[in-house]
Amino acid sequence: MERHAEPTEYQELEGGPLLKERRPEPCVLTIFGISGDLSREKLLPSLARLTRGGALPKGLVVAGVSRSATSFEADTPFPVHPIDVDLREARSFDRLATELRGLEASGETQGNRLIYLALPPDVVPATLAELGRAGVIQKGARRPWHRVIIEKPVGHDLDSARDLNRLALDVLDEEQIYRIDHYLGKETVQNLLVFRFGNAIFEPVWNHRYIDHVQITVAEEHDIGTRGGFYDQTGVVRDMMQNHLLQILSHVAMESPVSFAADDIRDKKHELLRSLRPHDGRAVFGQYAGYRETKGVTPGSKTPTYVATKVFIDNWRWKGVPFYLRTGKGLSEKVSEVSVHFDPIPHCLFGTEEVCQRVEPNVLTIGIQPEQKITVQFIAKVPGDDLSVGRVAMSFDYADGDLSARIPEAYERLLLDSLRGDATLFMRRDAVETSWKYVEPLLAPSMPDTYEIGSSGPVAAQELMRKDGRQWRSL
Ligand code: BG6
Repeated sequence: MERHAEPTEYQELEGGPLLKERRPEPCVLTIFGISGDLSREKLLPSLARLTRGGALPKGLVVAGVSRSATSFEADTPFPVHPIDVDLREARSFDRLATELRGLEASGETQGNRLIYLALPPDVVPATLAELGRAGVIQKGARRPWHRVIIEKPVGHDLDSARDLNRLALDVLDEEQIYRIDHYLGKETVQNLLVFRFGNAIFEPVWNHRYIDHVQITVAEEHDIGTRGGFYDQTGVVRDMMQNHLLQILSHVAMESPVSFAADDIRDKKHELLRSLRPHDGRAVFGQYAGYRETKGVTPGSKTPTYVATKVFIDNWRWKGVPFYLRTGKGLSEKVSEVSVHFDPIPHCLFGTEEVCQRVEPNVLTIGIQPEQKITVQFIAKVPGDDLSVGRVAMSFDYADGDLSARIPEAYERLLLDSLRGDATLFMRRDAVETSWKYVEPLLAPSMPDTYEIGSSGPVAAQELMRKDGRQWRSL
């Protein structure tokens, strides 16, 4: 039996925000890959919403770069200045430098430059080098500032990530590099930290003494669509686990930072990644039926589209607590969530064995998407003469009441933060490299198990839990 309590009321604390965001600053925002999927589906719509909401600085100028940008048509409430650049041609970058100076001539952008590299990962290193050579970006430029946003995946494995970071640091300082993992821009992922460090009641139980295990799920209904060529070289570990899942894990499990400042938070997240017990490579890999027929996928491909594995954190707080991570495409639902499963009660007072078995351990669920919701599940007496117990849930939902205000899309937040110069929600070099090091044993998997599209993944993933006497939450 399941009962739901009334939705929790939300009241903003009086006196305005606890931490007020800095104002975004004007600049020329140059988007490489303006005609690509990321620009079309995420960046331009996010900029459009920010424009309509009046969040962008007055002097912002947007330039769109691609091989034939001049034929690009944007349906945006702001002009996009097209610039043709052939990435293989040094002259193109010199011309870009001249065009940017032209756009800056009015002085409204104050000479600030934000470059967004929405490009396939293999062309990013050479592009960075050319941007540096042509003087489009200058190492150390602070006033006016030059910043570069690099999309995930940063590299392909530990060595290539190190190479890319080294190269980036030839042309820029670390503070000028904004490495995007868009999960960090999601409100619900950010709320993990506020939930943990803004409430005193959870912290005392947030450790191995009270928690049996934690599950982190990022399930997608979509298959790989038209991204066959990219995906077949990438696979689920590089695409989702090295970044999104490990970032969620670090928010759930990190220690309290000294302050909410960018580097204090990033220090603690990195410390958590360093505390992961080196992975033994054991995991369940799956590939959905029909994957190999996708355009761009090599026949007989072993690339996994699903992974489920167990990880441990070797520190005082989490000693012995398994964290089960799973992610995949072509599954029955799109759902990203964290569930924290508490220990069972130490002794049952309610008589019969049968009643006692119904006393399920508490579960705290943090929905990241599509439901943006926190739920605590607990046991309550069913009213009546007999002693009977049932499962009830207490929830807080971002969609309720006062919170129905529009939740910003992750890219809106990240674009604004990069204009503000706030790197809190971006990945620092050390964390990127430590995450790659951690997932390396998972990068050359054996033949994945096949699973049906629309299922909950390979059968072996259920077995992974069953062996430990546990089970996954249903999708
Ligand atoms: C991207 C991956 O980083 O995240 C995609 O490359 C994936 O494969 C996407 O589909 C999922 O993002 P979201 O925000 O829809 O969960």
